[in-house]
Amino acid sequence: MDFEKIANEALSVSRILRNRLDLADKSGLRHFTGGKSPAQARKKGEALAELQNQASECRKCEIGRQRTNLVFGRGNPDADLVFIGEAPGYHEDRQGLPFVGRAGQLLDKIIVAMGFDVKDVYIGNILKCRPEGNRNPSPQEIVRCMAFLEKQIEIISPKVICAVGGIASKSLLSTQKSIGALRGRFHEFRGIPLMATYHPAYLLRNPSDKKKTWEDVQKIRDFLLL
Ligand code: URA
Ligand code: URA
Repeated sequence: MDFEKIANEALSVSRILRNRLDLADKSGLRHFTGGKSPAQARKKGEALAELQNQASECRKCEIGRQRTNLVFGRGNPDADLVFIGEAPGYHEDRQGLPFVGRAGQLLDKIIVAMGFDVKDVYIGNILKCRPEGNRNPSPQEIVRCMAFLEKQIEIISPKVICAVGGIASKSLLSTQKSIGALRGRFHEFRGIPLMATYHPAYLLRNPSDKKKTWEDVQKIRDFLLL
């Protein structure tokens, strides 16, 4: 299972499609842009920025006082697809952006392999602050931070959510079931279809499970495209 290879193939297909659409534009054949309204994206972007400001004031948890940066989210405020991970790690805390370390590089490859542009999706976490030493988030931290994530998802209003890893999946689905039991099928979060799959950091340690995640994310791709 090689996400890089699939991602490269997806990139060359999307280049061909883009060239054809350019040709169709030039010949006046394309009436349907399929695009979303830029005004709506702007409005959502402003609402997210406002929410990020509120979150940056939050010091309810110890980790809020220890962090270098708040890690709120990255990507398209008007995305159809939102990925939710667990919590910022070292690099995320330094840069103030989610999934920028090794796990993030794999997540980006998975997104491109699905045929999407990383800039078209939105990526966030359950926690906005880094737990020291990358320990697991505490239940209290998850509950406190969930209000921000709920609002964040309400603003973006995606068509589907992908929860990566056990912590994100269990927190969003309010269940104790293992990621192995939850992955591979659609659940629901606040009326939005939610697919659970393995965390990219787990896949780096257990590459043989990449094919399961590939199955899971293809279900998301088919849901969005078919
Ligand atoms: N792992 C996560 O769950 N989130 C990040 O942002 C980075 C690593
Ligand atoms: N445990 C987790 O929390 N996440 C995974 O992706 C796999 C095992």
